[in-house]
Amino acid sequence: MSQFSQQIVAWQQSHGRHHLPWQNTRDPYRVWLSEIMLQQTQVTTVLGYYERFLQHFPTVADLAAGSDEEVMALWSGLGYYSRARNLHRCAQEVMSRFGGAFPRTVEELASLPGIGRSTASAIASFCFAARAAILDANVKRVLTRALGFSDDLASSAAEKKLWALAEDLLPTTDLSTAMPRYTQGMMDLGAAICTPKKPSCLLCPVHGSCAARREGAPERYPVKTKK
Ligand code: ADE
Repeated sequence: MSQFSQQIVAWQQSHGRHHLPWQNTRDPYRVWLSEIMLQQTQVTTVLGYYERFLQHFPTVADLAAGSDEEVMALWSGLGYYSRARNLHRCAQEVMSRFGGAFPRTVEELASLPGIGRSTASAIASFCFAARAAILDANVKRVLTRALGFSDDLASSAAEKKLWALAEDLLPTTDLSTAMPRYTQGMMDLGAAICTPKKPSCLLCPVHGSCAARREGAPERYPVKTKK
């Protein structure tokens, strides 16, 4: 395994988050629900909504059979309501297209409403140990800094290049344990250590090889001009 992924996996085990309610499950329904809620909402806010939602709709079949009004009532306060509409449609498509079982590939997951490439990869790596890269805003920051990737992410060519680099860095062995840990580790590192302002480089597991730190200006990354 690359040194980078090994360091992320080891750090996640000793310093990452382990007790969030959507961890320690490989149930794709629970993981999917958490990832959609966490797309635009902070962990502390999501916690209560997540538990209420699962009490009301314990399975994807229950959610698919629920009314729009019930779904909206449970989402009320979380904002970005298109997420709730897509959530409901996604549950219905899991029933109608996949017989009630979430698909296991990134491609099929990303064909469902509200699931983009990064969310599909998060679900596939957490639940099925798929060797799939996530690339949300936090992970873009970690990777562009670690690699000294200075291409402008406003361009789709640069974005594509970063996806390919993200895939190159994934674990290659022990995927069933390494992939969920690596994915969570990248998220945890971006949230807690490799922050937009004043990152805590001395606590970072990859600080020894980080290009941005070597340059002395981690905050310069990621590079993204307005389109
Ligand atoms: N944000 C998005 N996914 C997350 C996860 N699995 N844990 C914590 N924060 C997240």
